[in-house]
Amino acid sequence: MTTPHKLALIGFGTVGQGLAEILLAKGDALAARYGVQFQVVAISDLLKGSLYSPDGLDLAVLLELVRRTGKLEDYASLWPSQALSSGWDSLRTIRESNADTVVEISWTDVQTGQPAIDHVKAAFESGKNAVLTNKGPVALAYRELAELAAAHNVQFRFEGTVMSGTPTIRLGQRVLAGCTISEIKGILNGTTNYILTQMESGQSYADALAEAQRLGYAEADPTADVEGWDAAGKAVTLANVLMDGELRVADVARTGISGLTLADVEAAKAAGQRWKLIARVWAEADGDASQRAPGRIVRASVRPTRLPLSHPLAGVSGAVNACTYTTDLLGDVTLVGPGAGRMETGYAVLGDLLEIVRNT
Ligand code: HSE
Repeated sequence: MTTPHKLALIGFGTVGQGLAEILLAKGDALAARYGVQFQVVAISDLLKGSLYSPDGLDLAVLLELVRRTGKLEDYASLWPSQALSSGWDSLRTIRESNADTVVEISWTDVQTGQPAIDHVKAAFESGKNAVLTNKGPVALAYRELAELAAAHNVQFRFEGTVMSGTPTIRLGQRVLAGCTISEIKGILNGTTNYILTQMESGQSYADALAEAQRLGYAEADPTADVEGWDAAGKAVTLANVLMDGELRVADVARTGISGLTLADVEAAKAAGQRWKLIARVWAEADGDASQRAPGRIVRASVRPTRLPLSHPLAGVSGAVNACTYTTDLLGDVTLVGPGAGRMETGYAVLGDLLEIVRNT
C-alpha cells in the first residue's frame, strides 16, 4: 500500500530536473521500500512557465518538453484530457495547489534571500511543508522560518544548502543526537577547492576559475565563491542550526582565496603543506546568560589555511567537500562527499522528502 505525497516545484532548473530524473528512475523502488509515491502536481518556473494538475504531472513528458522547447505549457497539447491549469505564479501555486510539500528551488537573490523566503513563508502559512536548496534563506532567516514552520505544525528541511546531498545537516541534527558539537571545521565550497587543487598542478588562478565555471560549480557571480561569501553563508547555517548560534553572514571573519598566487601554492607544496579554504565554527565560553546556549557563544571564520599533508582535510581534492564535527561523546566525526551537482542536489531534496514522510 503506497501513500501519495504531492509536490509543488517552485523552479524547474538544474536541481528540479535532477530531482525529476531521480523520481522517474527510482519511483517504484521508493514506493516498495518506503510506501510512498512522490507525485509532482505543480511546477512554477519564471522562464519555463507553470502547470498544475491535482492528480499529478508526467515527469517524463516534462523533462522532454524542457529538452525540446524549454516551455512547460506545451504539456497541454500532449495530454489534452488531463485537468490542467497553467500560468499560475509561484505564490498562487504554493497557496492554491493541493501539494503536501513545496520544493523551493527557484532563482534567489543571495543578498536578500528573496523571493525564496516569501515562498517558504507562504508554504508554511498554507499548511505545507517546505524543502529548499537555496542557501540564502537559511543563512539569513533560519530562526524566523523554523519558528513559523513550528507554529503551523509543518516541516522545514534544507539539507541541500550545505554540501548538496551529502547529509551534513542530518548528521549534525539527528544522527549525532545527544552529542554536543563544540567545533565544525570544513571545506564547504567546491569551486575554491577545485581552483586550489588545479593551481597545485600548475594551472593559473584565472584558468582554474574559468574551468570551475564551465563545470558548473561556481555561483552566477563567482565572487561569492572566491571571496568566501558562499562558505561563510554555509558556516552560518551550520552554526545556527547545529550549534544554537545567532550569527549573521557579516559576523563571519572572512578572507577568500583571490589573493593566493601560484608562488604561495608552490611554497606550501615545498614545505609538505597544502592551502585549503577552511570554514570554522566554534563555541567559546561566555558569561552572557541571554544566549540561546547560555555559557557559550558561537563564532565563525572562513580563511585560506595551510594544512600539513597528514591532516584529514588536506587530502580532500577537487570539487569535493568535507566537514569535521568535534563532539563531546564521540570526538571527531568527518564527513566527505560531493558539494554540488545536478543529481547530488536533487538527491538532497529526495533525502529531505523521505525525512518528511518518516516524520509525518
Ligand atoms: N558554488 C558552490 C560551490 C555551489 O562551489 O560549492 C554549491 O553550493
